Amino acid sequence: MELAADSRLSVTTHPVVGGPTVGPSLNGRLGGLSDYPFTRLGALLADVTPRSNTTPLMLSIGEPQHEPPALLAQALAAAPLADWGKYPPTIGTAPFRAAVHSWLCRRYGLPAGFVDVDKGILPATGTREALFQVALLATPQRKDGRQPAVLIPNPFYAVYEGAAALAGAEPVFMPATRETGFLPDLDALSPDLLARTALMYLCTPSNPQGAVADLAYLKKAIGLARAYGFVLALDECYAEIWDKAPPPGGFEAALALENDGAGQGKAGQGTANLLVFNSLSKRSSAAGLRSGFIAGDPALIQAFTRLRSYALAGNALPALAAAAALWSDDAHVEENRRLYRQKIDAAEAALKGRYGFYRPAGGFFLWLEVGDGEAATRRLWGEAGLRVLPGAYFTRSEPDGSNAGHPYIRVALVHDTETVARACETIARVLG
Ligand SMILES: Cc1ncc(COP(=O)(O)O)c(C=O)c1O
Repeated sequence: MELAADSRLSVTTHPVVGGPTVGPSLNGRLGGLSDYPFTRLGALLADVTPRSNTTPLMLSIGEPQHEPPALLAQALAAAPLADWGKYPPTIGTAPFRAAVHSWLCRRYGLPAGFVDVDKGILPATGTREALFQVALLATPQRKDGRQPAVLIPNPFYAVYEGAAALAGAEPVFMPATRETGFLPDLDALSPDLLARTALMYLCTPSNPQGAVADLAYLKKAIGLARAYGFVLALDECYAEIWDKAPPPGGFEAALALENDGAGQGKAGQGTANLLVFNSLSKRSSAAGLRSGFIAGDPALIQAFTRLRSYALAGNALPALAAAAALWSDDAHVEENRRLYRQKIDAAEAALKGRYGFYRPAGGFFLWLEVGDGEAATRRLWGEAGLRVLPGAYFTRSEPDGSNAGHPYIRVALVHDTETVARACETIARVLG
Protein backbone atom coordinates (compact mmCIF):
# COMPACT_ATOMS: atom_id res chain seq x y z
CA MET A 1 0.00 0.00 0.00
CA GLU A 2 1.25 3.39 -0.94
CA LEU A 3 1.73 5.92 1.90
CA ALA A 4 0.20 9.34 1.59
CA ALA A 5 2.84 12.00 1.19
CA ASP A 6 2.07 13.71 4.55
CA SER A 7 2.20 10.49 6.58
CA ARG A 8 5.60 9.70 5.06
CA LEU A 9 6.75 13.07 6.30
CA SER A 10 5.58 12.29 9.85
CA VAL A 11 7.80 9.23 10.16
CA THR A 12 10.43 10.05 12.81
CA THR A 13 13.72 8.38 13.44
CA HIS A 14 13.95 7.14 17.03
CA PRO A 15 17.19 6.04 18.63
CA VAL A 16 17.39 2.32 17.93
CA VAL A 17 17.07 -0.29 20.60
CA GLY A 18 20.56 -1.41 21.46
CA GLY A 19 22.02 2.04 20.78
CA PRO A 20 23.43 4.36 23.46
CA THR A 21 21.23 4.71 26.57
CA VAL A 22 20.06 8.14 27.58
CA GLY A 23 19.05 8.31 31.24
CA PRO A 24 15.72 9.97 32.06
CA SER A 25 15.98 13.61 33.00
CA LEU A 26 14.60 14.13 36.50
CA ASN A 27 13.20 17.10 38.39
CA GLY A 28 16.40 18.94 39.24
CA ARG A 29 14.82 20.48 42.34
CA LEU A 30 15.01 17.08 44.05
CA GLY A 31 18.78 17.25 44.08
CA GLY A 32 18.68 20.54 45.96
CA LEU A 33 16.91 18.99 48.96
CA SER A 34 18.75 17.87 52.08
CA ASP A 35 18.55 14.15 52.75
CA TYR A 36 15.50 13.33 54.88
CA PRO A 37 16.36 13.41 58.64
CA PHE A 38 15.96 9.65 59.07
CA THR A 39 18.24 8.99 56.09
CA ARG A 40 20.85 11.25 57.67
CA LEU A 41 20.43 9.49 61.01
CA GLY A 42 20.97 6.12 59.31
CA ALA A 43 24.21 7.43 57.78
CA LEU A 44 25.38 8.96 61.08
CA LEU A 45 24.92 5.67 62.92
CA ALA A 46 25.95 3.29 60.13
CA ASP A 47 29.29 2.49 61.77
CA VAL A 48 28.03 2.43 65.37
CA THR A 49 26.87 -0.85 66.91
CA PRO A 50 25.04 -0.73 70.22
CA ARG A 51 26.76 -2.60 73.06
CA SER A 52 25.69 -6.22 73.22
CA ASN A 53 23.99 -5.86 76.63
CA THR A 54 21.61 -3.13 75.38
CA THR A 55 18.14 -3.43 73.86
CA PRO A 56 17.74 -0.88 71.08
CA LEU A 57 14.98 1.65 71.70
CA MET A 58 13.69 4.07 69.08
CA LEU A 59 13.26 7.50 70.61
CA SER A 60 13.88 9.05 67.21
CA ILE A 61 10.47 8.72 65.62
CA GLY A 62 7.28 10.45 66.79
CA GLU A 63 5.15 7.38 66.37
CA PRO A 64 2.73 6.98 69.30
CA GLN A 65 3.03 3.57 70.92
CA HIS A 66 -0.25 3.58 72.87
CA GLU A 67 -2.70 0.98 71.65
CA PRO A 68 -5.16 2.64 69.27
CA PRO A 69 -8.70 2.83 70.72
CA ALA A 70 -10.93 -0.23 70.32
CA LEU A 71 -13.36 2.08 68.53
CA LEU A 72 -11.07 2.03 65.53
CA ALA A 73 -11.20 -1.73 65.09
CA GLN A 74 -14.94 -1.79 65.80
CA ALA A 75 -15.68 0.85 63.16
CA LEU A 76 -13.51 -0.91 60.57
CA ALA A 77 -15.18 -4.24 61.31
CA ALA A 78 -18.65 -2.69 61.05
CA ALA A 79 -18.01 -1.25 57.57
CA PRO A 80 -19.74 -3.11 54.74
CA LEU A 81 -17.25 -5.24 52.81
CA ALA A 82 -18.47 -3.66 49.58
CA ASP A 83 -17.11 -0.28 50.76
CA TRP A 84 -13.57 -1.57 50.27
CA GLY A 85 -14.41 -1.95 46.60
CA LYS A 86 -15.26 1.72 46.13
CA TYR A 87 -13.03 4.62 45.20
CA PRO A 88 -13.40 7.22 47.94
CA PRO A 89 -14.52 10.70 46.84
CA THR A 90 -11.98 13.52 47.13
CA ILE A 91 -14.29 15.41 49.47
CA GLY A 92 -14.78 12.38 51.73
CA THR A 93 -18.20 11.55 53.14
CA ALA A 94 -20.81 13.71 54.85
CA PRO A 95 -20.48 11.80 58.17
CA PHE A 96 -16.70 12.30 58.12
CA ARG A 97 -17.01 16.03 57.52
CA ALA A 98 -19.76 16.31 60.14
CA ALA A 99 -17.59 14.55 62.74
CA VAL A 100 -14.63 16.86 62.03
CA HIS A 101 -16.88 19.93 62.08
CA SER A 102 -18.40 18.93 65.37
CA TRP A 103 -14.96 18.27 66.90
CA LEU A 104 -13.71 21.69 65.72
CA CYS A 105 -16.74 23.37 67.31
CA ARG A 106 -16.26 21.46 70.59
CA ARG A 107 -12.53 21.86 70.78
CA TYR A 108 -12.30 25.54 69.82
CA GLY A 109 -15.70 26.90 70.90
CA LEU A 110 -16.68 27.76 67.33
CA PRO A 111 -20.24 28.54 66.34
CA ALA A 112 -21.66 25.94 63.92
CA GLY A 113 -20.88 26.96 60.36
CA PHE A 114 -17.85 29.12 61.14
CA VAL A 115 -16.00 26.32 59.37
CA ASP A 116 -18.29 25.28 56.51
CA VAL A 117 -19.09 21.59 56.99
CA ASP A 118 -19.49 20.95 53.25
CA LYS A 119 -17.24 23.53 51.64
CA GLY A 120 -14.58 24.01 54.31
CA ILE A 121 -13.36 20.48 55.15
CA LEU A 122 -11.48 17.83 53.17
CA PRO A 123 -10.14 14.46 54.27
CA ALA A 124 -6.39 13.94 54.08
CA THR A 125 -4.36 10.75 54.22
CA GLY A 126 -2.54 12.16 57.26
CA THR A 127 -1.37 15.75 57.43
CA ARG A 128 1.91 14.97 55.73
CA GLU A 129 0.67 14.64 52.16
CA ALA A 130 -1.68 17.58 52.61
CA LEU A 131 1.10 19.78 53.98
CA PHE A 132 3.14 18.77 50.96
CA GLN A 133 0.39 19.48 48.45
CA VAL A 134 -0.51 22.86 49.92
CA ALA A 135 2.72 24.28 48.51
CA LEU A 136 1.60 23.23 45.02
CA LEU A 137 -1.73 24.91 45.69
CA ALA A 138 -0.33 28.16 47.03
CA THR A 139 2.73 28.83 44.89
CA PRO A 140 2.18 30.98 41.79
CA GLN A 141 4.81 31.41 39.09
CA ARG A 142 5.66 34.88 40.40
CA LYS A 143 4.60 36.86 43.44
CA ASP A 144 5.21 40.59 43.44
CA GLY A 145 7.10 40.03 40.16
CA ARG A 146 9.63 37.73 41.83
CA GLN A 147 10.20 34.09 42.79
CA PRO A 148 7.63 33.33 45.51
CA ALA A 149 8.85 32.69 49.04
CA VAL A 150 7.52 30.01 51.37
CA LEU A 151 8.16 30.88 55.01
CA ILE A 152 9.17 27.98 57.23
CA PRO A 153 10.02 27.92 60.94
CA ASN A 154 13.57 26.86 61.69
CA PRO A 155 13.75 24.11 63.07
CA PHE A 156 11.00 22.58 60.96
CA TYR A 157 9.19 19.44 59.85
CA ALA A 158 11.17 18.34 56.78
CA VAL A 159 8.13 18.05 54.52
CA TYR A 160 7.66 21.85 54.49
CA GLU A 161 11.02 22.43 52.87
CA GLY A 162 10.63 19.67 50.30
CA ALA A 163 7.17 20.91 49.37
CA ALA A 164 8.29 24.52 48.98
CA ALA A 165 11.31 23.68 46.87
CA LEU A 166 9.48 21.22 44.62
CA ALA A 167 6.70 23.75 44.06
CA GLY A 168 9.31 26.16 42.68
CA ALA A 169 9.30 28.55 45.62
CA GLU A 170 12.26 29.71 47.66
CA PRO A 171 12.09 28.23 51.18
CA VAL A 172 12.86 31.09 53.57
CA PHE A 173 13.57 30.07 57.15
CA MET A 174 12.32 31.95 60.19
CA PRO A 175 14.50 31.37 63.26
CA ALA A 176 12.59 29.80 66.16
CA THR A 177 15.16 29.63 68.93
CA ARG A 178 15.05 29.77 72.71
CA GLU A 179 15.42 33.57 72.37
CA THR A 180 12.21 33.82 70.31
CA GLY A 181 10.27 31.45 72.58
CA PHE A 182 10.84 28.65 70.03
CA LEU A 183 8.37 30.28 67.61
CA PRO A 184 9.28 32.52 64.66
CA ASP A 185 9.32 36.22 65.45
CA LEU A 186 6.61 37.49 63.10
CA ASP A 187 7.61 41.11 63.74
CA ALA A 188 11.02 40.38 62.26
CA LEU A 189 9.59 39.62 58.79
CA SER A 190 10.23 42.48 56.39
CA PRO A 191 7.41 43.89 54.24
CA ASP A 192 9.60 43.17 51.21
CA LEU A 193 9.77 39.46 52.05
CA LEU A 194 6.08 39.30 52.96
CA ALA A 195 5.16 40.85 49.62
CA ARG A 196 6.58 37.85 47.75
CA THR A 197 5.39 35.28 50.28
CA ALA A 198 2.98 32.72 48.84
CA LEU A 199 2.69 30.48 51.88
CA MET A 200 3.66 30.48 55.52
CA TYR A 201 3.88 27.25 57.47
CA LEU A 202 3.47 27.38 61.23
CA CYS A 203 3.33 24.44 63.59
CA THR A 204 1.64 24.69 66.98
CA PRO A 205 2.35 22.89 69.25
CA SER A 206 5.64 22.89 67.42
CA ASN A 207 7.78 19.94 66.49
CA PRO A 208 10.47 19.58 67.79
CA GLN A 209 10.30 22.16 70.61
CA GLY A 210 6.71 21.73 71.88
CA ALA A 211 6.09 25.51 71.88
CA VAL A 212 2.50 26.74 71.68
CA ALA A 213 1.44 29.88 69.83
CA ASP A 214 -1.03 31.97 71.83
CA LEU A 215 -4.14 33.60 70.42
CA ALA A 216 -2.47 36.98 69.83
CA TYR A 217 0.33 35.30 67.86
CA LEU A 218 -2.13 33.38 65.69
CA LYS A 219 -4.19 36.51 65.08
CA LYS A 220 -1.06 38.31 63.95
CA ALA A 221 -0.14 35.48 61.56
CA ILE A 222 -3.63 35.47 60.02
CA GLY A 223 -3.53 39.27 59.76
CA LEU A 224 -0.24 39.09 57.85
CA ALA A 225 -1.62 36.43 55.49
CA ARG A 226 -4.56 38.69 54.70
CA ALA A 227 -2.57 41.89 54.43
CA TYR A 228 0.01 40.37 52.06
CA GLY A 229 -2.20 37.87 50.23
CA PHE A 230 -0.66 34.54 51.14
CA VAL A 231 -1.90 31.22 52.50
CA LEU A 232 -1.31 30.46 56.17
CA ALA A 233 -0.91 26.70 56.66
CA LEU A 234 -1.27 25.85 60.33
CA ASP A 235 0.02 22.41 61.22
CA GLU A 236 -1.94 21.54 64.36
CA CYS A 237 -1.29 17.79 64.38
CA TYR A 238 -0.13 17.94 68.04
CA ALA A 239 -3.09 20.10 69.16
CA GLU A 240 -4.59 17.39 71.34
CA ILE A 241 -1.40 16.42 73.17
CA TRP A 242 -0.90 19.13 75.79
CA ASP A 243 0.40 19.47 79.29
CA LYS A 244 -1.39 22.20 81.27
CA ALA A 245 -3.81 23.94 78.90
CA PRO A 246 -5.31 23.21 75.47
CA PRO A 247 -3.35 25.09 72.79
CA PRO A 248 -5.45 27.68 70.97
CA GLY A 249 -6.08 26.98 67.31
CA GLY A 250 -6.14 28.94 64.08
CA PHE A 251 -9.92 28.93 63.93
CA GLU A 252 -10.19 30.35 67.44
CA ALA A 253 -7.93 33.19 66.29
CA ALA A 254 -9.95 33.71 63.11
CA LEU A 255 -13.11 33.85 65.22
CA ALA A 256 -11.52 36.37 67.58
CA LEU A 257 -10.55 38.53 64.57
CA GLU A 258 -14.10 38.25 63.32
CA ASN A 259 -15.42 39.41 66.68
CA ASP A 260 -12.87 42.27 66.82
CA GLY A 261 -13.90 43.21 63.27
CA ALA A 262 -17.60 43.18 64.13
CA GLY A 263 -16.92 45.91 66.70
CA GLN A 264 -15.27 47.98 63.93
CA GLY A 265 -17.86 47.19 61.25
CA LYS A 266 -15.34 44.93 59.43
CA ALA A 267 -16.67 41.41 60.00
CA GLY A 268 -17.00 38.85 57.24
CA GLN A 269 -13.46 37.57 56.79
CA GLY A 270 -14.30 34.26 58.45
CA THR A 271 -11.56 31.75 57.70
CA ALA A 272 -10.10 33.70 54.76
CA ASN A 273 -6.47 32.78 53.84
CA LEU A 274 -6.35 30.09 56.53
CA LEU A 275 -5.92 26.34 56.19
CA VAL A 276 -5.63 24.14 59.28
CA PHE A 277 -4.16 20.63 59.14
CA ASN A 278 -4.78 17.94 61.71
CA SER A 279 -4.85 14.16 61.94
CA LEU A 280 -5.59 11.15 64.11
CA SER A 281 -1.96 10.02 64.13
CA LYS A 282 -1.15 11.64 67.48
CA ARG A 283 -4.66 12.31 68.84
CA SER A 284 -5.79 8.70 68.53
CA SER A 285 -2.39 6.94 68.31
CA ALA A 286 -3.44 5.86 64.81
CA ALA A 287 -0.55 6.87 62.55
CA GLY A 288 -1.14 3.78 60.41
CA LEU A 289 -4.72 4.76 59.60
CA ARG A 290 -3.31 7.69 57.57
CA SER A 291 -6.29 9.87 58.32
CA GLY A 292 -6.43 13.59 58.79
CA PHE A 293 -8.18 16.66 57.49
CA ILE A 294 -7.65 20.04 55.93
CA ALA A 295 -10.10 22.76 56.93
CA GLY A 296 -10.58 26.46 56.41
CA ASP A 297 -11.15 29.06 53.73
CA PRO A 298 -13.83 27.67 51.37
CA ALA A 299 -12.21 29.32 48.33
CA LEU A 300 -8.92 27.60 49.12
CA ILE A 301 -10.70 24.32 49.85
CA GLN A 302 -12.43 24.55 46.48
CA ALA A 303 -9.12 25.05 44.65
CA PHE A 304 -7.50 22.34 46.78
CA THR A 305 -10.31 19.92 45.87
CA ARG A 306 -9.52 20.57 42.22
CA LEU A 307 -5.81 19.92 42.78
CA ARG A 308 -6.51 16.85 44.89
CA SER A 309 -8.88 15.38 42.34
CA TYR A 310 -5.68 14.80 40.35
CA ALA A 311 -3.24 14.07 43.15
CA LEU A 312 -5.00 12.34 46.03
CA ALA A 313 -4.99 8.60 46.66
CA GLY A 314 -7.64 9.01 49.34
CA ASN A 315 -8.82 7.16 52.43
CA ALA A 316 -10.93 4.05 51.93
CA LEU A 317 -14.57 4.50 52.97
CA PRO A 318 -14.18 2.19 56.02
CA ALA A 319 -11.20 4.29 57.14
CA LEU A 320 -13.29 7.46 56.81
CA ALA A 321 -16.02 5.80 58.89
CA ALA A 322 -13.46 4.84 61.55
CA ALA A 323 -12.06 8.37 61.49
CA ALA A 324 -15.54 9.81 62.02
CA ALA A 325 -15.94 7.56 65.08
CA LEU A 326 -12.58 8.68 66.48
CA TRP A 327 -13.19 12.42 65.98
CA SER A 328 -16.52 11.93 67.78
CA ASP A 329 -14.90 10.51 70.90
CA ASP A 330 -12.83 12.55 73.37
CA ALA A 331 -12.47 10.02 76.18
CA HIS A 332 -9.61 8.11 74.58
CA VAL A 333 -7.79 11.38 73.93
CA GLU A 334 -8.06 12.39 77.58
CA GLU A 335 -6.52 9.06 78.51
CA ASN A 336 -3.72 9.61 75.98
CA ARG A 337 -2.94 12.99 77.53
CA ARG A 338 -2.85 11.45 81.01
CA LEU A 339 -0.30 8.90 79.82
CA TYR A 340 1.85 11.53 78.07
CA ARG A 341 1.85 13.66 81.23
CA GLN A 342 3.11 10.66 83.16
CA LYS A 343 5.96 10.27 80.70
CA ILE A 344 6.84 13.94 80.93
CA ASP A 345 6.79 13.66 84.74
CA ALA A 346 9.21 10.75 84.47
CA ALA A 347 11.44 12.69 82.07
CA GLU A 348 11.36 15.70 84.39
CA ALA A 349 12.35 13.57 87.38
CA ALA A 350 15.39 12.27 85.48
CA LEU A 351 16.46 15.35 83.53
CA LYS A 352 15.31 18.49 85.35
CA GLY A 353 18.14 20.98 85.64
CA ARG A 354 20.14 19.37 82.80
CA TYR A 355 20.38 20.10 79.09
CA GLY A 356 17.98 23.05 79.38
CA PHE A 357 15.14 20.66 80.19
CA TYR A 358 11.65 22.17 80.16
CA ARG A 359 8.22 20.59 80.06
CA PRO A 360 6.91 20.96 76.50
CA ALA A 361 3.60 22.84 76.52
CA GLY A 362 2.36 20.50 73.77
CA GLY A 363 3.41 17.40 71.84
CA PHE A 364 5.59 14.63 73.21
CA PHE A 365 9.15 15.57 72.34
CA LEU A 366 12.05 16.69 74.50
CA TRP A 367 14.36 19.21 72.89
CA LEU A 368 17.53 18.81 74.89
CA GLU A 369 20.58 21.03 74.62
CA VAL A 370 23.47 18.59 74.90
CA GLY A 371 26.38 20.52 73.35
CA ASP A 372 26.91 18.56 70.13
CA GLY A 373 23.73 16.79 69.02
CA GLU A 374 25.38 14.44 66.53
CA ALA A 375 28.09 13.36 68.96
CA ALA A 376 25.48 12.77 71.68
CA THR A 377 23.35 10.75 69.26
CA ARG A 378 26.30 8.47 68.43
CA ARG A 379 27.15 7.98 72.10
CA LEU A 380 23.57 7.21 73.11
CA TRP A 381 23.25 4.64 70.32
CA GLY A 382 26.63 3.00 70.88
CA GLU A 383 26.68 2.97 74.67
CA ALA A 384 22.99 2.45 75.43
CA GLY A 385 21.09 1.50 72.25
CA LEU A 386 19.01 4.67 72.50
CA ARG A 387 18.24 6.15 69.09
CA VAL A 388 17.51 9.88 69.12
CA LEU A 389 17.69 12.54 66.40
CA PRO A 390 20.27 15.32 66.24
CA GLY A 391 18.68 18.78 66.29
CA ALA A 392 20.72 19.85 63.28
CA TYR A 393 18.68 17.48 61.10
CA PHE A 394 15.59 19.64 61.72
CA THR A 395 17.40 22.89 61.28
CA ARG A 396 18.66 24.69 58.20
CA SER A 397 22.21 25.99 58.60
CA GLU A 398 23.03 29.67 58.23
CA PRO A 399 25.18 30.72 55.27
CA ASP A 400 28.20 30.86 57.63
CA GLY A 401 27.69 27.15 58.42
CA SER A 402 26.40 27.68 61.95
CA ASN A 403 23.32 25.67 62.84
CA ALA A 404 21.00 26.67 65.67
CA GLY A 405 19.87 23.06 66.08
CA HIS A 406 23.42 21.70 66.39
CA PRO A 407 23.50 21.65 70.22
CA TYR A 408 20.19 19.76 70.48
CA ILE A 409 18.78 16.27 70.31
CA ARG A 410 15.10 15.44 69.93
CA VAL A 411 13.75 12.65 72.11
CA ALA A 412 10.29 11.20 71.42
CA LEU A 413 8.46 10.19 74.61
CA VAL A 414 6.18 7.64 73.05
CA HIS A 415 6.89 4.39 74.90
CA ASP A 416 5.33 3.30 78.18
CA THR A 417 6.18 5.39 81.23
CA GLU A 418 8.57 2.89 82.76
CA THR A 419 10.56 2.60 79.53
CA VAL A 420 10.63 6.39 79.18
CA ALA A 421 11.80 6.77 82.79
CA ARG A 422 14.66 4.29 82.27
CA ALA A 423 15.61 5.86 78.93
CA CYS A 424 15.79 9.35 80.45
CA GLU A 425 17.90 8.09 83.37
CA THR A 426 20.20 6.46 80.83
CA ILE A 427 20.49 9.68 78.84
CA ALA A 428 21.58 11.47 82.02
CA ARG A 429 24.08 8.71 82.83
CA VAL A 430 25.60 8.48 79.33
CA LEU A 431 25.78 12.20 78.61
CA GLY A 432 26.71 13.14 82.19
C1 LIG B 1 5.02 18.59 62.67
C2 LIG B 1 4.42 17.42 61.98
N1 LIG B 1 3.53 17.65 61.02
C3 LIG B 1 2.96 16.65 60.33
C4 LIG B 1 3.27 15.33 60.62
C5 LIG B 1 2.63 14.26 59.80
O1 LIG B 1 1.84 13.41 60.52
P1 LIG B 1 0.62 12.64 59.89
O2 LIG B 1 0.79 12.61 58.40
O3 LIG B 1 0.69 11.29 60.48
O4 LIG B 1 -0.60 13.42 60.27
C6 LIG B 1 4.20 15.03 61.62
C7 LIG B 1 4.55 13.64 61.92
O5 LIG B 1 5.31 13.30 62.77
C8 LIG B 1 4.77 16.12 62.33
O6 LIG B 1 5.67 15.92 63.31
